[in-house]
Amino acid sequence: MDEPREYPVPVASDEEVAAFISRYGTPYDPETDDYERGPFVANIREGKNDPIYNAHSYHTKVPPRAIIPYILHYTEPGDIILDPFCGSGMTGVAALMCEAPPEDILQAVPGSKKGARRAILNDLSPAACHIAYNYCTPVDVEGLKAEFVRIKAAVKEEFDWLYGTEHYEPAIGVYEPTKPEVACHLKNPLPNTPQDSLISVVDREWELLDRSEVERRMGPEALAKQPIPGGVEQFICIPAMIHYTIWSDLYSCGGTITVEEPTGKVNTRTRLPCLKKVRRPRGCGAVFSLWDVAIDATTGAVRPRFECSNCQQSWVKTQLKRCGFAPVVTNYSYRGLKLRRRGKGTVIGDATVRTERPVYQFEKARLSSSKKLVCDFSVLRSFKMWADGPQYRRNALRGRDIQTAADFFTDRNHAGLALLYREIIRAPQHLRPSLLFCLTAICPSMSRMYIFRESRKGSILKGSLYFPSLFQEMNVCAAFFSKESDVLALAGRKRHEQAIPAVMWGSSTTLLSNLSECIDYIFTDPPFGSNLYYSEAGCLFDAWLNKRMDRILEAVIHRKEDGGMKTLADYGRLMTASFRRMYELLKPGRFLTVEFNNSDGQVFEAIKNAVREVGFAIENMVFLDKVHKTFKQKKGDKGEEDVAGHDVLFNLRKPSKGRALSSDHEEVGRDVQTSSLEDLVSEVISEHLRTLPQSIQKDSTIYSDEHRTTPFLNTMLMNTLIPRGVDVSRLNLPFIDRVCARYFRKVDGRWYLRDEAVGDDRPNGNKGRLFQIPDDNVTVEDEKSAIAWLRQTLATTPLRIGELRPHWMKTTVKLTGDLSTQIEQLLRENFWLDRSTRRWRIPTADELAELNDHERQRACHDAERFLEGRLSPHPTDAEILGWIEKLYSAAGRLEEEALGLVEPGEEPVLPADLIAYYRMMPRLLQSVLKENVDASAYTRASRQCRTAARKVQEHEDRKEAEAQSRSGPRQGKLFD
Ligand SMILES: C[S@@+](CC[C@H](N)C(=O)[O-])C[C@H]1O[C@@H](n2cnc3c(N)ncnc32)[C@H](O)[C@@H]1O
Ligand SMILES: [Zn+2]
Repeated sequence: MDEPREYPVPVASDEEVAAFISRYGTPYDPETDDYERGPFVANIREGKNDPIYNAHSYHTKVPPRAIIPYILHYTEPGDIILDPFCGSGMTGVAALMCEAPPEDILQAVPGSKKGARRAILNDLSPAACHIAYNYCTPVDVEGLKAEFVRIKAAVKEEFDWLYGTEHYEPAIGVYEPTKPEVACHLKNPLPNTPQDSLISVVDREWELLDRSEVERRMGPEALAKQPIPGGVEQFICIPAMIHYTIWSDLYSCGGTITVEEPTGKVNTRTRLPCLKKVRRPRGCGAVFSLWDVAIDATTGAVRPRFECSNCQQSWVKTQLKRCGFAPVVTNYSYRGLKLRRRGKGTVIGDATVRTERPVYQFEKARLSSSKKLVCDFSVLRSFKMWADGPQYRRNALRGRDIQTAADFFTDRNHAGLALLYREIIRAPQHLRPSLLFCLTAICPSMSRMYIFRESRKGSILKGSLYFPSLFQEMNVCAAFFSKESDVLALAGRKRHEQAIPAVMWGSSTTLLSNLSECIDYIFTDPPFGSNLYYSEAGCLFDAWLNKRMDRILEAVIHRKEDGGMKTLADYGRLMTASFRRMYELLKPGRFLTVEFNNSDGQVFEAIKNAVREVGFAIENMVFLDKVHKTFKQKKGDKGEEDVAGHDVLFNLRKPSKGRALSSDHEEVGRDVQTSSLEDLVSEVISEHLRTLPQSIQKDSTIYSDEHRTTPFLNTMLMNTLIPRGVDVSRLNLPFIDRVCARYFRKVDGRWYLRDEAVGDDRPNGNKGRLFQIPDDNVTVEDEKSAIAWLRQTLATTPLRIGELRPHWMKTTVKLTGDLSTQIEQLLRENFWLDRSTRRWRIPTADELAELNDHERQRACHDAERFLEGRLSPHPTDAEILGWIEKLYSAAGRLEEEALGLVEPGEEPVLPADLIAYYRMMPRLLQSVLKENVDASAYTRASRQCRTAARKVQEHEDRKEAEAQSRSGPRQGKLFD
């Protein structure tokens, strides 16, 4: 077969992009450069309903509407925009859409100018480049339409066979074969039936079948589930089209159960027989489908507990061994007859009927012979899965024996896709990318990963390779041709030929390494930690493109349970290298906006450190609420997984020429002539507003909130700027008001930082003027203010850690010390975890007393000193048992809290105290003489000590496993 072995995406080379930049870009000239912008501030809320947005899925996607305001604010028409981690290319789409931006966005961004911008899109994933390219590049619409027509005709016969089926109607009543409405459709009408049909015999599709033939085609299994009426000897067979087939995992009835059995001994104290737990085999060995035993006939829901259809043994799925999967239900439609009311009587009319029934024998036979339609076509079969990939381990791909991309599909759907691929590579070269885009777009939902839902509206778990026990095998033909309208709509939108982006395939760490200072703005949404393993998640797309993502260069952290090949440090290195490239490519004074969704404080810190290290200044951070949440985010809302509900955006700036940043706001060696007045004004005011509260606190006779008014700011600016040689000719009250309106918040005629407390909350201050800003009216700068911030945030609504973290990140974004990573400790020490809801809140008086349990603290302290041999007088044995009890309860509480700081299913990070307490307990017990204390108290203490010893052991095992995975051989290879 004539497969194109080349990568079908026309990606641009470094040289081509350099030419693109010199042709369309404006060179940076420090002498004349007058770029003037402040950071963009608006919390954006954007939906994902745009049909274009949905034309092709990608694991994570930023709606273009959310990007447009940033582009409009930071750039001019024709400017060059870069997205080094472009994914599906939404930055490119947004840049194109700036030609005619939605009116509401234009209104929301003052000073914005219409006009498309040029984008450079880059990604390491071949799939991402393919999607991005097709989202942004114009197509030959007429050519494409003609290709769809050609392909439809070329595959018709094979698809009719693949997705064709039959519907049988007893040949009685409406379907009486002697009725003219029936006879006119029959290939084999009964002799002597009236033949006034308009349909010629060769075009007739119905067939009269004997009962025995129908039974044969249905097969015994289907007949048992759907018996056919007795007494009927003839049936009308009507051709039908399959919409989808439900497949179910098969299980064999067999497993073990834990039972308690007498040991033969008797307990000397209780005189009851002693019992021991033993595992016993059970089950009859019969094979059944989950569908047959677990679907509730009335609700259609899958019951978690079910019984073997043969021996009635009760099971849950996880106790059983999976032994294959099989088709169970066919959902199809056919053109049949229906009795309709007409006036007082009834008539027989045509009707399309959609229904479902068990899978028939002949369908199963066809399914198994559909393999032959894949013929020698092997794109998917030759695409091997990484047998050591993280998803491979976690999502039990190995358990399902998924070895190549072909294994993601049933034979029938593999054949269907293969047939389309055969036609796509026969299409003219310039149309192949678009056609392939339609093919990859439908691919996930055509696979065995398409989860069966009771509503019959299946879905995919985005970003993971999850194979459900029940899946819907969708009709490839219908899905492919329904994409035609999407690509044509896309083609309709992509009419701005002047602004076609350049798509590059490679790593952001070495992007355009021969260029510098040529990009006007960067908007990017990089991979964040372990959120997604792109190299694996994109494999189904990559397989069609015949290219793989380079796992060595992928910026990712592998979770421990996923093999831990790449660590936080590896990720930090890759991200630092990427940000360094972005820094070098960006013109001085320009902005980089980084979008991300992650609730892991450490990943967040890694990013913060990386951007700082390369020289960016963090200007601010805002929320992006994508409205339609991803599955993981939904889980996060339910407290099942720790993902932040909001995406956040960092606005970062590369300092202007001549300015070197020593920290975010302290600039040394500033060259005032090249710095824009607006920047200077906003920075000086920002610094002034930041320090004002402290100044007021120190000396309220000199400083007051009057120092927030525009006239005062004017004076202050003059005093500051003139000595620095700044030309202040444009500085006046309206100018200052304009700048302030952009960056700050005005309350009662006074200016405040956007994230600042409004009002005076000094102990003796004017409390009457306190404005409540739900989460932001305490500025976090030290532990005390951090606790105040948490108190305020948790005062109205108790929150789960996953909900709290994004707000915490936003609030502490500019902090450099350790504090921003200490939310866990602050919560543990000062707040109360509600165990049932896993929400943190302000403790009640009793809870506070427990938190500050002085008795317990004293016990821990004494126990510690005792073990160090520094406690005198020597405690009694009863006292030591009391300490053990206290240590045990303290450790229990700490453990619960640790659980409240992660989401269910995740390993909690155990605080050092807890392990220290557990370690002390057995040592304390050793110094107690059993005879000296109450027997039951001793037994309890020894039980607690056994638990403690076990926990210490588990902790050590885990540590060792971690250490091993860190020093594993693979890791060395990845980054040497
Ligand atoms: C969060 S996604 C971007 C999604 C994109 N914003 C969209 O709307 O579709 C991050 C992307 O970074 C890519 N990536 C990972 N490591 C990379 C690297 N070293 N260089 C370039 N891209 C990389 C992944 O393939 C993935 O497409
Ligand atoms: Zn059984």
